[in-house]
Amino acid sequence: MYVEKTELENFRNYKNLVLNFNSKVNLVLGKNGEGKTNLLEAIHFGFTGMPLRFATIKDLLRNENPEGDTRGLALYSRVNLEINRNESKDIISTRIVEQKRRVFLNDKPATIKSLSPFQSTIVFTPESLSAVKEGAAQRRRLLDEIWMTVSPLAGEILNDYQKALVSRNKVLKNGIKGGLSRGEQKHLLESLNHSFLPLATEVSWGRIQAATRALNAANEAYSTLLKGNAVDLRVDYSISAQSAIDWSKNQVYDCLVSRLKELQATEIQVGASLIGPHKHDVRFFVNGKDARVFCSQGQQRAVVLAFKVAQARLHRTCRGHEPILLLDDVFSELDSIRREQLLLLLCERRGQMVLTAIDDSVPAGQFGSDVSIYRVHKGQVT
Ligand SMILES: Nc1ncnc2c1ncn2[C@@H]1O[C@H](COP(=O)(O)OP(=O)(O)OP(=O)(O)O)[C@@H](O)[C@H]1O
Ligand SMILES: [Mg+2]
Repeated sequence: MYVEKTELENFRNYKNLVLNFNSKVNLVLGKNGEGKTNLLEAIHFGFTGMPLRFATIKDLLRNENPEGDTRGLALYSRVNLEINRNESKDIISTRIVEQKRRVFLNDKPATIKSLSPFQSTIVFTPESLSAVKEGAAQRRRLLDEIWMTVSPLAGEILNDYQKALVSRNKVLKNGIKGGLSRGEQKHLLESLNHSFLPLATEVSWGRIQAATRALNAANEAYSTLLKGNAVDLRVDYSISAQSAIDWSKNQVYDCLVSRLKELQATEIQVGASLIGPHKHDVRFFVNGKDARVFCSQGQQRAVVLAFKVAQARLHRTCRGHEPILLLDDVFSELDSIRREQLLLLLCERRGQMVLTAIDDSVPAGQFGSDVSIYRVHKGQVT
């Protein structure tokens, strides 16, 4: 499966764009601020209906006014993706109308959920590659994405957990504001905990399994990135500062229940849920040492790259076809050896890739004859 053609209208800094893609390697080059990431974001938005960065749907509407004045804001935006799946064609059209998202599949109204057979993108962004040193949310996201690749139910469970968390937080917050009596709050929390705890267990367990399943492939990829040097890459899932990577599902549940007992009084005081997978962390170890403390920035990026490459391999195994890789500026901060080795790992694959890079920082020749090069300048592509 690959994106054969994309059409953009009023998306970020693109007024109108029609672009044909190669089924293999598509290299998007340009200087800073020309529209490389915006183009990748358009593909991601087309498949998932979600912005790539911490942005709202409204931020995606083209704004002609450089100061961001809303008078320059487009009223309508559209990303069309023409998908080639085993030589049959489908068109996904993701639009923003009256600041709301609308999705169409082959001209018929559709939902994001109905696009799941097409959702095969794996995104490498500079933010995701800094997961080792950045916030725990990025590290959890890395495992969630691997989990969603290997389990068709993961996305729904994560959504359900998010909803359960929002309801629980609302009850806790209402208690502080005086909107609920202590008795009412206790009663509501007890009933919410019945669904919250099993969902919290499923999410934590899903992440533990995802980390364990990806580990072998991540070790192989990490060793290739280091040009065959032997390394021992490990991952740990941490629940309330305890190592949980080897826990059974029951152990996870029991730990969450006992933490809830310990912390519920504090939760009521602060008005927020203090237990659950939104509080867990992920740690990476290289040759037994904590990567966050001991690895350089480039080495930390290589750790995440290794897990992303592992995710791509698991995608092929679990779904029977190659994912589409979207790589945003991943070559900066890697030295020439890791850069070459990453290219080697990417070139082994048969699937489609769209990569961005600052002008000529990527040796395009390494991709052989399967590469199309696009140059972006001020929202125009040549
Ligand atoms: N909604 C919008 N309307 C118009 N322009 C926008 C909008 N959102 C972002 N831009 C502009 O689009 C331009 C290109 O952004 P983009 O992130 O794609 O750059 P880039 O080519 O990836 O640069 P870099 O190499 O620095 O990562 C930026 O100048 C940004 O201000
Ligand atoms: Mg960019």
